[in-house]
Amino acid sequence: MEPDCRERGCLPSRYHIVTFIIKYRSILHDRTMSCTIIVGGFFGDEGKGKIVAHIAHQDRPSIISRGGVGPNAGHTVCIGEKEYGVRMVPSGFVYPESALMIGSGVLVDPRVFLHEVDLLGVRDRTFVDGRCGVIEEEHIARDRASRHLREKIGSTGTGCGPANSDRVLRTSRQAKDVPELADFITDVAQDVNSALDKGETVLLEGTQGFGISLYFGTYPFVTSKDTSASQIAADNGVGPTRIDDVIVVFKAYPTRVGEGPFSTEMTMERSHELGIEEFGTVTHRQRRIGTWDGKMARYSAMINGCTQAAITGIDRIDPACFGATDYGQLSKKAKDFIAQAEKDIGKPVTLISTGPEMSQIIDLRGDL
Ligand code: IMP
Ligand code: MG
Repeated sequence: MEPDCRERGCLPSRYHIVTFIIKYRSILHDRTMSCTIIVGGFFGDEGKGKIVAHIAHQDRPSIISRGGVGPNAGHTVCIGEKEYGVRMVPSGFVYPESALMIGSGVLVDPRVFLHEVDLLGVRDRTFVDGRCGVIEEEHIARDRASRHLREKIGSTGTGCGPANSDRVLRTSRQAKDVPELADFITDVAQDVNSALDKGETVLLEGTQGFGISLYFGTYPFVTSKDTSASQIAADNGVGPTRIDDVIVVFKAYPTRVGEGPFSTEMTMERSHELGIEEFGTVTHRQRRIGTWDGKMARYSAMINGCTQAAITGIDRIDPACFGATDYGQLSKKAKDFIAQAEKDIGKPVTLISTGPEMSQIIDLRGDL
């Protein structure tokens, strides 16, 4: 009975109920309305999750939708004492009033997705585009058994490469073919464009980083898709003319996991001296660490169509800046670093992260 009735338009869908509640609440707040893309400017793990979480709380988007490859991504968000690592659900989940979506370009691993929605308690406001490609157990097995992917490229072993290759061969299943995902299916492109038509705010969340883009990165040591801002828009079915801002996130000390060239890489001993060891969210592998790469930052900003930049980990440039929330609290060393980064990027640095917690940030977007 119910699906028939819903098709005839007598019953509002779960999406319409959720967005009605969100919109009703948002009318009470005076929000800026726009479509913003957030992407990583180096090799991934720049702290996009934290930036998204902060912007979501400030800008109150009605929808936060994910682009990017799939569950090879790991986003860490710290709120208070709690640390969340997410791989499928948008990292903006920490903002409780947005609908959370996964765009049709993204690969969905139903096991990872279902585990996360329950763990995070976001089942009622999370949606998946029916056209998403599906990662099967077999894709994971192929990824892990492949010497090329696992050893030469250093893949995350999450099945993304084989699943994207089956998608290109047009043999893979789509999210709408998976019964366990039935409750979550929507047309993300339609929902996002309708929200923008209504003047609502939308955040499009990128994953990975520019340097591991299949098109622009250090091929063959890259992931299985482009990772630039245009791809994130395409993943969500949003045309380039609808994007207002592209925030590219750069890490003061860039990192790389897996194999491949890394021109500013430092020795393990040096990173140990600096006290900046890092381990991956998904694979727990130790990340390689480098110094700021101005040339890469400029190239990445250009191809991403950067309008504003975020710098994370400024407290590693100068530990005295840890936790600062005001530009005036930054030391000369940190300010000089940011001035040089702005010169390299060619766009203003409007967000400066000073620690892992969501509130440890300087937001200069209002000064633009
Ligand atoms: P795959 O995407 O799992 O095939 O891995 C290909 C390469 O991209 C490997 O070097 C991975 O370490 C890297 N990679 C994939 N996803 C991420 C990410 O979210 N952050 C950082 N590196 C990633
Ligand atoms: Mg990550």
